[in-house]
Amino acid sequence: MMQRARDLDAADPIAHFRDRFDLPEGVIYLDGNSLGALPKASRERLHKVIDAEWGEGLIRSWNELPGGGGDWIAMPQRVGAKIAPLVGAQAHEVIACDSVSVNLAKLIGAALSLNPGRKVVLSEPGNFPTDLYMIQGQPQVEQRLAERDKMIEALDESVALLLLTHVHYKTGEMFDMERLTKAAHDVGAIVLWDLSHSGGPVPVDLNGANADLAVGCGYKYLNGGPGAPAYAFVAERHHGDFTQPLTGWFGHAQPFTFSDEYEPAEGVKRLLAGTPPVLAMAALESGVELIAEIGMEALVAKSRALSEFFRECVADLDLDLVSPRDPAQRGSQLSFRHENAYALSQALIARGVIGDFRDPDILRLGFAPAYLRFVDIAEAARHLAQVLESGEWQRDEFATRAAVT
Ligand SMILES: Cc1ncc(COP(=O)(O)O)c(C=O)c1O
Repeated sequence: MMQRARDLDAADPIAHFRDRFDLPEGVIYLDGNSLGALPKASRERLHKVIDAEWGEGLIRSWNELPGGGGDWIAMPQRVGAKIAPLVGAQAHEVIACDSVSVNLAKLIGAALSLNPGRKVVLSEPGNFPTDLYMIQGQPQVEQRLAERDKMIEALDESVALLLLTHVHYKTGEMFDMERLTKAAHDVGAIVLWDLSHSGGPVPVDLNGANADLAVGCGYKYLNGGPGAPAYAFVAERHHGDFTQPLTGWFGHAQPFTFSDEYEPAEGVKRLLAGTPPVLAMAALESGVELIAEIGMEALVAKSRALSEFFRECVADLDLDLVSPRDPAQRGSQLSFRHENAYALSQALIARGVIGDFRDPDILRLGFAPAYLRFVDIAEAARHLAQVLESGEWQRDEFATRAAVT
């Protein structure tokens, strides 16, 4: 397998991009689906933002940066425009701001404003918790949950919004975005896609699927840094009509007139609530620029090749794959069910293979195509085989759960 891995690396057209990341020695990082790696350019960019833009420019940098370049005030739109082509959207349909959770609250409100008179929000049990919690936090909403194979049956004319996560965080299963969107539109429902595990390594065509609304994560495959701002999409056809509940001053048509009356800005700018976090936004921008430079086509192809290679390498092990076998039906991850999944993940981390655990019994391994090599995959598979065969995962030290898994 190792020779095959070397041959695959030698033939990989985007292998050289690994050098653009700062990765620690001796670590095989299979958790880019949780927190992406550090692009070298982000370190430089943050130093520049701190020293020149903040230190020297001070408040002037909101309008004009020392030495030129984009100002701070337009960062949410500028970064959103760079994310847009990665998810099949137009530049003016995406904005970078807040967390996925906060954007969900805004867009659930937007969907209700586009569909007055309806109050049901349909989702699936086991969706990422924040998606469900944000539905439950809306006082005027009635939550309805349906298993994924019954989703289309559960759609009827009481449904205001269908809210689904495109790639499931735990299993990696992918919804057919176009089919579900059409089914929802057939009953007059709006659709909101959570792209947190899609944007970056998975082909997404929001406008091709006629999607209405979407949110996505900045700190996973876009490598925007811990707690990076998220992004939100509103299809152009809704720009004139939607409202959202977090009517803060940055979403005002003219924030610096300091008017007493809220008047929404045009388009996705009305999704802004408060002052953008410039340092975090700068790190996200440099992460997004790198992903855009590598290009979606190559990233998608490599993501599938990496996960298929891992599947082949572990085919003989006693592991229960819960992700779809067809790489076109899953995200950039493989998840395995094992009753001691937590201890297995800890034993792997002790060997320098960082994946993660999802309660109650899933070992989740993510394959970020921007920086992983096929030799990493072969090595990780070898470690997993050894951990299972040796039984070393049974050591006491691997049983205690940390606060963040
Ligand atoms: C599918 C999905 N949605 C939402 C989130 C949470 O995003 P945030 O922490 O930005 O609110 C995550 C985080 O892992 C996620 O996987």
